[in-house]
Amino acid sequence: MRPTLPNKVSKVINELNSHKLIDNALVTDIVSLANLNASNLDEFNSFNHSAFESYGRKLIYDNGNFKILLMSWRSGDFTAIHNHGYTEWGCVCFFGEATHRLYNATADELTILQKQNFNEGQIASVCGDLTHIMGNSSSKSFTTLHIYGSNTRQKDVSKDALVYMPEFNKAVTTMGSAYLNMNKQLILSEKPLAKIPNDVVLDYFSLVKPFYERIGQISILQKMEKTIENRSVN
Ligand SMILES: [Fe+2]
Repeated sequence: MRPTLPNKVSKVINELNSHKLIDNALVTDIVSLANLNASNLDEFNSFNHSAFESYGRKLIYDNGNFKILLMSWRSGDFTAIHNHGYTEWGCVCFFGEATHRLYNATADELTILQKQNFNEGQIASVCGDLTHIMGNSSSKSFTTLHIYGSNTRQKDVSKDALVYMPEFNKAVTTMGSAYLNMNKQLILSEKPLAKIPNDVVLDYFSLVKPFYERIGQISILQKMEKTIENRSVN
């Protein structure tokens, strides 16, 4: 049976639907006023996600021009480095401490802009070209609520999200999912990876290694080690 929407989430949806044009300041205000907490959303947890998904991703609501998801993060769970496709406005509401990197992404390079974590109670803004990685480097599971919207599109607001896969030397596009070692069926297109500096690759590997260790992906871990060796020689 489909869980019923909690009152606080229904209020957020009604409020968002009452505005013709939304920006990040407005969605942040609406979510902040709703005073959401993790227990309001317990029914949508997906901590028991499959090993082929590197974090839990559960759709709560989608009316075409915006969607709401609850992500569940077990210890070691991580996204890949990704952006958010056609998203024009949105936010992430944190119910635990998430490890986070913000990147500067151009057509041919990726650099780290910020290494600051997000804490419980914080709300971060999201738009299509926001390139980041997030996950759980702690021992405690937690959830995050994500809203992605558009003022111009009537469907698939996070389509063509760009996902970087340094361990496979490629970048792919998806409908919005940003799993590590993603199932081929979720991939819309793929291309060779743009130039990524050593420090970005090493930092990325250190973040996602616990996930690959947890699911026993020895061949991917070996591939990562080989890449590190090659990069330190060259
Ligand atoms: Fe994201």
